[in-house]
Amino acid sequence: MHRFKPQTFRWRFLKRLEHWCSKMIDEILSLVKKHEQWRGKECLNLIPSENVMSPAVRSLLASELGHRYTARDRFYMGTKFMDEIEQYGEELAKKVFGAETADLRPLSGHIADMIFLACFTKPGDTVMCISPEDGGYPGLWENGLAGLLGLKVYPTPFSRENMEVHVEKAKEAIKHVKPKVVIFGASLILFPHPVKELAPVACENGAIVGFDGSHVLGLIAGKQFQDPLKEGAQALFGSTHKSFFGPQGGIILAGKEHGELMKAKIYPRFVDNAHWNRIAALTLALAEMQSFGKDYAEQVVRNAKALAKTLHDYGFPVKCPALGFTESHQIIMDFGDYEEGRKVAEKLQKANIIVDCVVRLGTCEVTRRGMREEEMAKIAELIKRAALDEENPEIVKRDVVKLCSDFQNIEYCFK
Ligand SMILES: Cc1ncc(COP(=O)(O)O)c(C=O)c1O
Repeated sequence: MHRFKPQTFRWRFLKRLEHWCSKMIDEILSLVKKHEQWRGKECLNLIPSENVMSPAVRSLLASELGHRYTARDRFYMGTKFMDEIEQYGEELAKKVFGAETADLRPLSGHIADMIFLACFTKPGDTVMCISPEDGGYPGLWENGLAGLLGLKVYPTPFSRENMEVHVEKAKEAIKHVKPKVVIFGASLILFPHPVKELAPVACENGAIVGFDGSHVLGLIAGKQFQDPLKEGAQALFGSTHKSFFGPQGGIILAGKEHGELMKAKIYPRFVDNAHWNRIAALTLALAEMQSFGKDYAEQVVRNAKALAKTLHDYGFPVKCPALGFTESHQIIMDFGDYEEGRKVAEKLQKANIIVDCVVRLGTCEVTRRGMREEEMAKIAELIKRAALDEENPEIVKRDVVKLCSDFQNIEYCFK
C-alpha cells in the first residue's frame, strides 16, 4: 500500500513503476517457464555435453548455501556446515573415482583444465593434446588456455577415421617433442584413449599426464569406459554435468603428490568463493553415482550403440561402423562440414530434436529419463523422418512430444 494520496503525481508515478516492475518479473518468469516447458518437457535433448539432474540434486542449487562465502584462509565465519559438506563431497569423490585427492571447487571444466595446466607448466613449455580438428577441446589450444598461459601446443597424432590416437606415432612425438604435459580426453570421444600405453613414455620423458574427462566422467565413475588414474594419468579433471549427472561445474581428482600441489594453489589463484550450493548438489550427485552409476553408465553406452546402429542402417553417415560406432555416450555423424551439419541440426530443431552442429548425439539425458534400446529405435526413426525424409516438422514434433511425455521422471537416483 502506498502512503500517497490517490491521483497525486507521486501516486501515479509509483503506480506506473509498480506496473513496470511486475511486467518485467512476468516477462522473466515467463521466459524461464517457456524454456522449461520446451527443453525440459517437449524436446529430445541429445547434446552430449548436457544431462539432467535429479530433483533432489537440482533443489540443492536453490538452497541457502548459494548465498554464502567461505575462504581457505578462514576469513569468513559461519562456515561450519559448508566445511563439512566439502569434506563429505571430497571423500565421496575419492571413493567414486579411486583417487587419493579430490577437489570440488573448480567452477567449470574449463577452469579445472586451467588449474591443471597452470600448476604444471610455465610459459614456453609445450603441451601435447588432441587437436580441435580431430575433436580435441578447442579451449586448450592457442585461442584458449595455451594462448593465455604462453604455452606451445603440439597435436597428438590421431586417426580421424578411427577416432583413435596413433599410439606408435604418439610415442615418437613424445620422445621428440618432450612436452611438459600430455592431456588425453577430447570433446569428440568415441573410444578410450591409450593412457596405459603412453603414460609411461610420457613420464620417462619428463611429462605429467592429465586426462580431461569432461565428456566421459560419468562413464568413468560408472566403470564403463577407462580408468585414467589407474592407467597412469596423474590427474583426471573436467566438467561435472555432461555424462556425469551433477550440476554445471568442475572437479579435479588426482594422486597425492599432484593433487595436493593443485589443492594448495586453487585458492586464491583460480577460485575464490567456490559456490557452495553447487558443491552440495555435486556431493549428492556423487552419492547417486556411487549407488546407481554402474547401471546408468551401462545403459548410456548400450543406448548409444543401439542409436548409432539404427541411424547407420537408415543411411546416416555415422562414424566408425567397423569399430562398433562407439564405446561412449557419443555418436558422431559426419556430414562433411560444419555448415552441412548445421543444416541437419536446424531441421532437427524444428522437430524438437536438439543436437549440436558437428552433428554429435549423446544418450546421457534420454537414458536418465529412463529410455532404453526400444526408445533408441524410435528416436532414430524420428531423426530419419525429420532429417532424411523431410517430413513436415510439425508432424514429427507431435510424435517427439508424445514420446517425451512418457519419460518425464529422472531415473538412477534416490526416490
Ligand atoms: C573436453 C572438454 N573439456 C573441457 C570443456 C569445458 O567444460 P565447461 O563447459 O564445464 O567449462 C569442454 C566443453 O565442452 C570439453 O568438451
